Amino acid sequence: MSSPNPRKIVFIVLLSFFAFLLGVITGYFSRPVHKDSSQKLLEKLNRDGDWHLFEQFKEHVDTGYIDKVVRDLTRRPGLAGTPQQKKNAEYIFDLWQQEGLKAEIVQYNVLLSYPKGNHTNKVSLYDASGRELFTSKPQEKVLVDEEAPEEVVQPFNAYSPSGLVKGDLVYVNYGRAEDFKRLKEAGINVSGKIALARYGKIFRGNKVKFAEENGAKGVILYSDPADYCSPGDERYFPGGMWLPGSGVQRGNVVVVKGDQSTQGYPSTNYSYRPSEEEMSKQFPSIPCHPIGYDDAYFLLSSLVSGEVWQDWQGSLNFTYHLTGLLDNRTVQMDIQNENVYRPIYNVIAKISGTIEADRAVIIGCHRDAWVYGAVDPISGTAILMETARIFAKIYRSGWRPRRSIVLCSWDAEEYGLLGSYEWVEDNMKWLQNEAVTYVNIDTGIAGNYTFSSRTVPLLHDAVYKATMELPSPYDSSITLYQDWRSKSESRNELLPHPKIQPIGAGSDHTPFIALVGIPSTYSKYIGYIVDGKVIPINDYPLYHTRYEQYELLKMIDPGYTLAKIVTLFNCELIRQLVDARILPLNVRTYAGVIALNSRRLEKLRTAFTENNVEYDEFLASTERLKTAARIFHQKIVHLDQNNPLQVRMINDKLQSVERAFIVPEGLPLRPMYRHLLQSPSGLNYYGGTGFPGLEDLLELPDSDPEKWPQIRKHITILTHSIYSLATFLERD
Ligand SMILES: *[C@@H]1O[C@H](CO)[C@@H](O)[C@H](O)[C@H]1NC(C)=O
Ligand SMILES: *[C@@H]1O[C@H](CO)[C@@H](O)[C@H](O)[C@H]1NC(C)=O
Ligand SMILES: *[C@@H]1O[C@H](CO)[C@@H](O)[C@H](O)[C@H]1NC(C)=O
Ligand SMILES: *[C@@H]1O[C@H](CO)[C@@H](O)[C@H](O)[C@H]1NC(C)=O
Ligand SMILES: *[C@@H]1O[C@H](CO)[C@@H](O)[C@H](O)[C@H]1NC(C)=O
Ligand SMILES: *[C@@H]1O[C@H](CO)[C@@H](O)[C@H](O)[C@H]1NC(C)=O
Ligand SMILES: [Zn+2]
Repeated sequence: MSSPNPRKIVFIVLLSFFAFLLGVITGYFSRPVHKDSSQKLLEKLNRDGDWHLFEQFKEHVDTGYIDKVVRDLTRRPGLAGTPQQKKNAEYIFDLWQQEGLKAEIVQYNVLLSYPKGNHTNKVSLYDASGRELFTSKPQEKVLVDEEAPEEVVQPFNAYSPSGLVKGDLVYVNYGRAEDFKRLKEAGINVSGKIALARYGKIFRGNKVKFAEENGAKGVILYSDPADYCSPGDERYFPGGMWLPGSGVQRGNVVVVKGDQSTQGYPSTNYSYRPSEEEMSKQFPSIPCHPIGYDDAYFLLSSLVSGEVWQDWQGSLNFTYHLTGLLDNRTVQMDIQNENVYRPIYNVIAKISGTIEADRAVIIGCHRDAWVYGAVDPISGTAILMETARIFAKIYRSGWRPRRSIVLCSWDAEEYGLLGSYEWVEDNMKWLQNEAVTYVNIDTGIAGNYTFSSRTVPLLHDAVYKATMELPSPYDSSITLYQDWRSKSESRNELLPHPKIQPIGAGSDHTPFIALVGIPSTYSKYIGYIVDGKVIPINDYPLYHTRYEQYELLKMIDPGYTLAKIVTLFNCELIRQLVDARILPLNVRTYAGVIALNSRRLEKLRTAFTENNVEYDEFLASTERLKTAARIFHQKIVHLDQNNPLQVRMINDKLQSVERAFIVPEGLPLRPMYRHLLQSPSGLNYYGGTGFPGLEDLLELPDSDPEKWPQIRKHITILTHSIYSLATFLERD
């Protein structure tokens, strides 16, 4: 070690001194600046939503843009897996880019289904000597000028297997579980026969499944004028909205949703695909084919044995019979479909949040259609596009959302929600942790009578609140909420609010809610009035036919008054979800609905007691959840909302509530659905019930030795999940 160099010591001392001085000066000057910026940050973090934004939505909403999108997307058929659908994806992508949104096209390769080659699927009627008396039409009549009529796919049921079956016919009404039960009780054997079912009431895939379980060897689906026309009213399309005799409803018949070849994981290029044989259990095992009522006339009027019950009689001009073809006639189905892998294209755009970028409010609508899809889904896609355009516009003028907005245009929904399922599976981890809610649009305008909504209980309040901000489209002196309430037949049992339906599995919200537990909602305009009466049709008469053309939407909503209202509704709902400091999710409503549904099971008390089901404990759990939810919301009222960490803690809890009912193993009989409460009903995938897993098990025959042990176990799981949520809410 050498002795220290004095010059070096002086230098170090001086350096230290200047460094110290610099530190003091910097500290002194930066102190107030620092305080200022942290104050600004705190103000930004504590900012609540801007309630005036709604005025801007109203100012910007443009029915001209809605019309442009409807016109452009209904010019040619938009069937999934066709070149036109790829072009439609690029069209959406371009419009979003033009608005300054960051968009991307996300591709998946999925298993789709089409009629095979040039084969014409058909149903025929033969006399006893084998002479053909009648064959169904290969295609619907052209009633309005079409740009590309050759691109219209012939009527078929997607994923129906091919098959050539021949035999006797049996009329099974709507093909519901209760209809087959009634036939059985009347001693009518469906086994070995072809079932003729009318469309309506429940999802068509459930009809096929029940027919199959009852031993039918084929299913013919038809639209009865009783369900798709108004008696005595001749205004058939294009003269009106009623279904003409040649119109046929297309649609898929699978009860397992998402890509059939990648159950549980996304359809990427690296994904494993099972053989068709391995997948066969997911498809119906019997052929299925849809026809119109002009064709159904020949089949139904040939039945001569057993007059139908009054409520089974449709509106064709003869008395319906259950079975027994006249003069030993036979019916034959000749179906050739094929499953093929094709690319599909979702378009995704994002507006990043400035405070909580890692919290996402997702809004989506599918883009594919069976044919032109003016109502399903283009009326909704136009609403999505206008909603996106409005948010992009106010973003450009300086508005910054608290949370992120993700906009989605889904492909292949008609084939069983493929675009949305694959995307949700692809983004599972992100969505589980960061998605706040999913707002679905599909058919936006099905009729002009009333607003209607399918929504999980957590979001009921937010939906009501948004409708309270809006004027009724027909009477600006009342709100949309008041108009809706005056037309809602059965009110919500909890409060004097209009009825909101259970969410069901009828559209792209299904993977969000039933796989991940993301609170979801889906609203639209529905219903018609003729001669002062609401027409009891299923959805709308021309559903999934070639007649869902531009002209139809113009008939339902001539000036886009309703499309404008539904757009503003979605804008306002999203504004609340994206900007509100405290998420507008109401746990009390959820707890109330759960308690109400659990008490509805009281009628089964005797059976529960006889089979040692812990029903009282189950009821007790729902009461504890009610108390916990009440106290939790009181805590929100007393929360220091200027403490961003406290706010975030509460929001994180709110966001996790729905996830409490996700069980990884899924429902006991339907493992592909993981939500204990918001999964669809097993009897009708369009509908929802309080406890879908329990409902499935209750349908099992009493002779099944597994029935009651499974029910005991499932009630335990329900009780446990409810207690578990209560504990979660009770903890600080
Ligand atoms: C279908 O028919 C067209 C014209 O008749 C023919 O060009 C085409 O090859 C046929 N396609 C198949 C798959 O048989
Ligand atoms: C129904 O018909 C099938 C096939 O024809 C037969 O096997 C079955 O025993 C019949 N069931 C009843 C209850 O008659
Ligand atoms: C998957 O394969 C298709 C067809 O080969 C290709 O166009 C696409 O880019 C691939 N996707 C990815 C993510 O590599
Ligand atoms: C019943 O309807 C069919 C088909 O539309 C028609 O051909 C027939 O004449 C009608 N029969 C009567 C009795 O009105
Ligand atoms: C129908 O079949 C039965 C039994 O095979 C036979 O007795 C009857 O003559 C047939 N009727 C007609 C109209 O062919
Ligand atoms: C709704 O549509 C029907 C059928 O087109 C029409 O008669 C009725 O006037 C419309 N109602 C309103 C309020 O516009
Ligand atoms: Zn749709």
